[in-house]
Amino acid sequence: MIKIAHISDTHITSGEAYKGYAYDLIVNEVNTLDYDLVVHTGDVTNEGLREEYERASYELKKIQKPLIVLPGNHDARNVGYELFQKYIGALNGVYEWKDLVIIWVDSTIPDLNNGRIGGYKFQWLKEKLEEYSHKKFKIVASHHHLVPLPDTGRERNVLFNAGDVLDLLLKHEVNLYICGHKHVPNIYRVEGLVVANSGCTSCRKTRKGDVNSYNIIKIREDGKISVATKRVTGDIHKREFKIKKQRIFIPKRRRLFRIIQMSESNVSDRVYFRERVFKNAIRAINERYKPDLVIHCGDMVDIGIERYYSKAHELWEKIKPEKLLVPGHNDITHLGYELFREYFEEPKILEKGNFIFIPIISVQYETPIGVVGRIGQKILREHLREYEEKFRVVVMHHNITPIPKSREIGFLEDGGNVLKILTEEDTNLVLTGHGGNSLGIKVEETPIINAGSISWELHRNPFGNSFNIIDIYEDMVAAFEIQATWGSRKLLGLWKIKTKVPWN
Ligand SMILES: [Fe+2]
Ligand SMILES: [Fe+2]
Repeated sequence: MIKIAHISDTHITSGEAYKGYAYDLIVNEVNTLDYDLVVHTGDVTNEGLREEYERASYELKKIQKPLIVLPGNHDARNVGYELFQKYIGALNGVYEWKDLVIIWVDSTIPDLNNGRIGGYKFQWLKEKLEEYSHKKFKIVASHHHLVPLPDTGRERNVLFNAGDVLDLLLKHEVNLYICGHKHVPNIYRVEGLVVANSGCTSCRKTRKGDVNSYNIIKIREDGKISVATKRVTGDIHKREFKIKKQRIFIPKRRRLFRIIQMSESNVSDRVYFRERVFKNAIRAINERYKPDLVIHCGDMVDIGIERYYSKAHELWEKIKPEKLLVPGHNDITHLGYELFREYFEEPKILEKGNFIFIPIISVQYETPIGVVGRIGQKILREHLREYEEKFRVVVMHHNITPIPKSREIGFLEDGGNVLKILTEEDTNLVLTGHGGNSLGIKVEETPIINAGSISWELHRNPFGNSFNIIDIYEDMVAAFEIQATWGSRKLLGLWKIKTKVPWN
């Protein structure tokens, strides 16, 4: 077994921010217990100043175990990344021990709180993952988080290219991604990857009145990984995971429901709107795929004007099966929200046998940034509980897991809280449609599927314009992407599911 103490966000300074007694308490424990290794995921100092680095190098020497330290956004302030290398060590690196490799990456951007693993560094990470692909256990450590975190207020400081990084880690079968930054301990399973945030070890700035903490990671020979958050109060919250190889499943039970999911039609008279592609897709949906329901996840029109709405409505009416749509941020520009209600009506909860579709409005005027809000979150949770015995599908515009090839500009402001509600309530399926690229990913027990653009030329999808076909079986969800012009198919995900639905 390998046992790692994961500390973070010490924020060492001469001022008030730093709680030296919490640091000493945790370091003493780390020294006396049987840890093989300590990893510090950044924000060692508070402002990246020389006096702070001098003190930090003294404080870090108290740790009598092999130690990996990587920089956080606070360390990079005031050109502190130069001092980091002088007083602490390399900004990026690899640590090998037995069956384990830890690759740490600097995700900081000088003078910004947001993160990025961009350009050459991304390439470096990719090369290292290839070089160490033979290792049984792979950990990547960085400062910024990969998926939205709950209880962090305005949730914006994920990596700018989190979608690409997540995609890279999943493709290389990394077992664990560890980070800090938001001072909120959290553990998620994202497909086969465990994403573990450490809380803050010795900064005064904890969230929601929490206390200082660190994470304990245990990696066992039999392929089990456990992550526990240990608070200075002694309180321990532990989760265990089994490392699973990716496998393809074949549904054993009957198919119950078929959804066609599309997004970002952006109907308009601009050259980027591909009307023929859209019409072609409608024909395929009506004649070939024959779904039970067609869902449009936002951005039906490019701009919220009457001319575009009337055109969109005309096209939408050509789709024969039952339909549901939620507004996207483009739909509500100008007088768009009024027009949306007039042409398509306000989205309502739709019940179809054992299936319930819960639309969530996440758009705001004149900005790609989305929000559900505190009342919206409460309503979402209530609905999910009310229909606990149904197969619950949540439909909204904004993506809550990062999308590859996209800079997370139109991110859901409270995505962290929304994701927590969705996963805590074991939502059976989440459908989103922002970012111009497709993605299927399971977080905890919830498959989350984002649709690319069906007919807008300005997308980010190497597969082209597309829509998704989602088949729900008693024991699994199968999602494919259909190329809107050629009809070719690409697998988005096959997920085993457990529900409380009394199928019969
Ligand atoms: Fe921090
Ligand atoms: Fe930070």
